[in-house]
Amino acid sequence: MTDQQSTPRPLHIGDEAPNFTARTTMGPVKLADYRGRWLLFFSHPADFTPVCTSEFMALARAAPRFEAMGCDLLALSVDSLYAHLAWVRAIQDGFNVTVRFPIIEDPSMVIGRGYAMINPDAPDAGTLRHSFFIDPAGIIRASISYPASIGRSVDELLRVLAALQHFDAHGEVTPADWHPGEPALMPAQDTQDSMLSAPGLWFHREAKST
Ligand code: BEZ
Repeated sequence: MTDQQSTPRPLHIGDEAPNFTARTTMGPVKLADYRGRWLLFFSHPADFTPVCTSEFMALARAAPRFEAMGCDLLALSVDSLYAHLAWVRAIQDGFNVTVRFPIIEDPSMVIGRGYAMINPDAPDAGTLRHSFFIDPAGIIRASISYPASIGRSVDELLRVLAALQHFDAHGEVTPADWHPGEPALMPAQDTQDSMLSAPGLWFHREAKST
């Protein structure tokens, strides 16, 4: 078997998110349980570490904003269930923040490897900061990766979710630095006829829905 055959194909935007069953801090979870809702499925390098703790507090505080947008949160790392439980308790006791989303234990790294959350060349087995947005049909719609040293921006995660939902609702694309309520753009013209019949500056037209 070649290296290429033994390495799982990395997941791409547009792929169906592979199903799995896992043990979590809130009981067993199947990815398929989330069908019909948006899901932010994300990995972190290790429990009881500074940046990860800041991210979990930020996400726990922002959970109602994701919920209001029909999006659940699901975390994963290679740490054991009991480490996750102790960390959630320490965050509650130390910061008075309750983490209400499930955290998957993945000590065998089967799920993390399947989602390319683990660098196959890394000297240790920690998951990196990968974030996948999975839509209600179970399709990967966006993925964002950060190194262990940089905490994610919750505002950016919410912005990406809003942009995905805006595209689905209106068929409009979103420009650089777009935020909900700001003008979106008409999608690119992809035929000569549509290009010639489009009014104004045909390759950059504000949309009308907002
Ligand atoms: C952190 O969350 O601070 C962290 C975790 C693993 C490696 C480096 C930093």
